[in-house]
Amino acid sequence: MRRVLVTGVTGFAGSHLVDYLLTRGDCEIYGIQRWRSRTENIEHLRDHITLLECDLRDASSTRDTLERVRPDLVFHLAAQSFVPTSWSAPSESLTTNVLGQLNIFEAVRRIGSRCRIQLACSSEEYGMVYPDEVPILETNPLRPLSPYAVSKVAQDMLGYQYWMSWKVDNVRTRGFNHEGPRRGPVFVASDFAKQIADIEKGRKPPVVHVGNLEALRDFTDVRDMVRAYWLALEKCEPGEVYNICSGRAWKIKDVLDHLLGLSRVKIEVKQDPARLRPSDVPVLIGDHGKFTNATGWEPTIPFEQTLADMLEYWRAR
Ligand code: GDD
Repeated sequence: MRRVLVTGVTGFAGSHLVDYLLTRGDCEIYGIQRWRSRTENIEHLRDHITLLECDLRDASSTRDTLERVRPDLVFHLAAQSFVPTSWSAPSESLTTNVLGQLNIFEAVRRIGSRCRIQLACSSEEYGMVYPDEVPILETNPLRPLSPYAVSKVAQDMLGYQYWMSWKVDNVRTRGFNHEGPRRGPVFVASDFAKQIADIEKGRKPPVVHVGNLEALRDFTDVRDMVRAYWLALEKCEPGEVYNICSGRAWKIKDVLDHLLGLSRVKIEVKQDPARLRPSDVPVLIGDHGKFTNATGWEPTIPFEQTLADMLEYWRAR
């Protein structure tokens, strides 16, 4: 049995990762939560994991937790993950994301733990990508366009530095957009799916509010993504960085049109200026060749299926 610690276990990816770990049957699973975390995503998991209270922004709380769990593997998914929040609350985003990870590294180093750590870095780090720079390789320049993206660059660079300086064993996964059931309602596909489900139930007028529909994103189903996180720790090199993506792009307008095509009612589309960002990453299309060579991973769930599952999720709630 491997002792596995999941940070961000109450979140979207964290809860799906635990679902995956349980199918394996070879892990003793620990998750951490802050006292005020919402736990709806993990109600079905409560009997199968040990939940501990911990605030990663607090060094002693983090160290106590790592000393108590003594994990073999750490999946570090906890973060302030919504890009627009990082403009309204930049210091909160940077503190949560950068300091939280720093506290894990320092705790691991100081208690002499030999665990492997997966770091949920992000395709947002590439930021300003020009049309002739796709598909994006791990060697592309990092030109972050939001405080959130800067925080992920910092997490990414800290991973490299702690490996080089202290041999803290970590693998950096640059996850591109991932979606699926339980996705927070602020993210684009979930936001649109929830609005449509609300309209179908007659809870709001038949108008979907949207932001920038021109951006291109490379979407992967969260269930493929968490399997990739596992493989990263099973098969990848410490100190290395890997893109995890589908290699295909969807225009946000096409995501909306696809969901509208699944809806049972006629719906109008309206742009809401409040949903436009000070700077939006124009295009993310990744190349996952390096990761696939190392692990054999390929995405298996088509995005059309992911979108249908998301709409069903919101209809059922
Ligand atoms: N959220 C949202 N709501 N986004 C909209 C909307 C809307 O109404 N309309 C258009 N968009 C556009 C955004 O401007 C952006 O170009 C795209 O849809 C995706 O937005 P999000 O779903 O909020 O995700 P993101 O790409 O900013 O960031 C996500 O992916 C990153 C990986 O690339 C998050 O999951 C990050 O945490 C993650 O690191």
